[in-house]
Amino acid sequence: MDLESLKETNVERYTRYKTLIGKFVEKFNEDPQFVSRAPGRVNLIGEHIDYCGYSVLPMALTQDLSLAVRTNSSTVLRVSNINSAFSDYIGDTTTFTINSDKPAWFNYILCGIKGIIESSNISNLPGMDIMVDGSVPQAAGLSSSSALVCAAGLATAHACNCSLTRLELADICMRCEHYIGTQGGGMDQSISFLAQQGMAKLISFNPLRSDNVVLPDGAVFVVTNSCVTMKKADTAHFNTRVTECKVAAQMLASWKSLDRSQVKTLGDVHEMLGVDLDSMVKMVEDLMHDHPYNVGEVGQQLGMSGEEVKEKLLFKNTSQVDSFKLKQRATHVFSEARRVFKFKEVCSETTNPLVKLGELMNESHDSCSRLYEASCKELDQLTELCRKHGALGSRFTGAGWGGCAVSLVPSDKLNSFIGSLRTSYYANMNDDEFAKAVFFTAPGGGAGVYLQL
Ligand code: GLA
Repeated sequence: MDLESLKETNVERYTRYKTLIGKFVEKFNEDPQFVSRAPGRVNLIGEHIDYCGYSVLPMALTQDLSLAVRTNSSTVLRVSNINSAFSDYIGDTTTFTINSDKPAWFNYILCGIKGIIESSNISNLPGMDIMVDGSVPQAAGLSSSSALVCAAGLATAHACNCSLTRLELADICMRCEHYIGTQGGGMDQSISFLAQQGMAKLISFNPLRSDNVVLPDGAVFVVTNSCVTMKKADTAHFNTRVTECKVAAQMLASWKSLDRSQVKTLGDVHEMLGVDLDSMVKMVEDLMHDHPYNVGEVGQQLGMSGEEVKEKLLFKNTSQVDSFKLKQRATHVFSEARRVFKFKEVCSETTNPLVKLGELMNESHDSCSRLYEASCKELDQLTELCRKHGALGSRFTGAGWGGCAVSLVPSDKLNSFIGSLRTSYYANMNDDEFAKAVFFTAPGGGAGVYLQL
């Protein structure tokens, strides 16, 4: 699509891109050749289960990360952000390295570039000048970092004329984000590429695929920011949960005498046993004890020394973890996976689906908070308030430990819902801040490139 045609279809985006292009010219003294964009997302249900192999149900936001790009005749890579709080980066497309110890914002761009270089075997990537504009709230659980990886991957693919399908791009970007150190699943990158305007998606893995989910009429999904920021690459919380799920999968495989070398995720165990999710929940209840497992106990069951457990099952930033709440984490994963399928089913029911959807969202939050311990007191308080002010369901969305909640609000209660939140959780904010912290959005479209003609 060319940029000018945006004037007809999306004037707001067109105006924003004109400003972005103006900043690009100011910085690099030339016009960009194209703009690549990738949206953030709000996950409606299915939290912390994508990396266990289970389907999730997000929708894309209209907010995105957009990159104005021009290739240059050298191999110099220059990255700048229209928001001056983000420092410039200068590197080289043939020698850059990604810092996963304390990743600065532009490392996500480097991940996207590296993903395409490696997957398409590119040996002569040209230099690029890049100006970035993001409208996804940051560190808010709405996947601004993955959107940056995706927009950069897409830009690189476009600059090198690589013809990749959306599925391939999603797959590449979900893998290359691991260079940053966090071991996320593929939800964020997949919805960013596979989204379609007006549709939520059931995203499934191995192999990656997506199914449309039409959300029922009569209610709106409202996103509310708890204003507790959480950058998942800055703490070990996220990888600790991934580790616990990996260990739980190995332990279950061992108890059930499965070939452990074939088991990476809880989903693998489930598939190899060929039973339903109810049976998996029951199995965890029967086999696992409530109190945490330690490295010694895990090693004993798996026939490994403590050192081997650390080497084979832990990540760089979780190597010190010695307490695994296996029962709680596995129960969350299997029951949340069940809720996702139920949610999709209920979406196509004609008789009063909204109340049931709300219940599933509430159960999801409770499980994420109590069993998975991925919430925080502000998110618990905010979701509680949302329910009190009229939401049928409310849950945190994304990685958690801060960030946003998503609530299902009947359309006829929307105004009073927003009004009550304004004077309760957000009483100390001014109107501008409030408009950024609380918003609703219809499902947006997926990543794309606009040519500057
Ligand atoms: C982050 C990860 C996703 C997913 C969510 C939790 O957003 O990037 O892959 O694991 O957390 O559901």
